[in-house]
Amino acid sequence: MGQVHVLSHPLIQHKLSYIRSETTGTKEFRELVQEVAMLMAYEITRDLPLIETSVKTPVALAKTKVIEGKTLALVPVLRAGLGMVDGILNLIPNAKVGHVGLYRDPDSLMPVEYYCKLPQHIEERDVIVVDPMLATGGSAAAAVSAVKARGAVSVKLMCLVAAPEGVEKVQKAHPDVDIYVAAIDEGLNDHGYIVPGLGDAGDRLFGTR
Ligand code: PRP
Ligand code: URA
Repeated sequence: MGQVHVLSHPLIQHKLSYIRSETTGTKEFRELVQEVAMLMAYEITRDLPLIETSVKTPVALAKTKVIEGKTLALVPVLRAGLGMVDGILNLIPNAKVGHVGLYRDPDSLMPVEYYCKLPQHIEERDVIVVDPMLATGGSAAAAVSAVKARGAVSVKLMCLVAAPEGVEKVQKAHPDVDIYVAAIDEGLNDHGYIVPGLGDAGDRLFGTR
């Protein structure tokens, strides 16, 4: 069973409070999502393997470490996942970026895939699927299925806010996938929105409604 990591760093929790607030406008919301995504990426990449190398400083040769070859692939789920990409790229500029386009049918709440374009050699990369919201889990489970169907073998899922139902769904569908979230909320309302959540992440990021 994949592990669920609730990232409790004070900066993440502090900024998430402002992201949730209904009084936070689009500009600030977008900036905060980027900042939290960057902080979460810092936590998620804690266990990246290092190899020893050396560099010549102005004084002497220093034995140092760098991250081992395998590059990361970020895969935002369109559209709200896009809001997290630049924050992560600030920290990991060499990561490649793929995209999975999914929308949630408003009646059935089932995800519908409309786009998928991934970096080459996806099977050799550590893939991080990113989406701010893990609600019923349908979209995240489908996004992970989409990247696996194209060859990905090492996949993590990173979301800002999750409902317990979504966590359970992804764990059942993809027991090999670890899930990283900033918060697990109470549950879902009748419209499939996370309670208390933060509302519609895509609309708040892009100013649509
Ligand atoms: C939101 C969100 C997730 C999905 C979560 O996207 O960004 O992708 O809902 O819900 P689920 O866990 O119940 O599947 P939405 O479908 O609203 O599309 P958007 O990003 O284009 O706004
Ligand atoms: N999608 C969102 O944007 N917010 C929710 O609470 C659930 C799904």
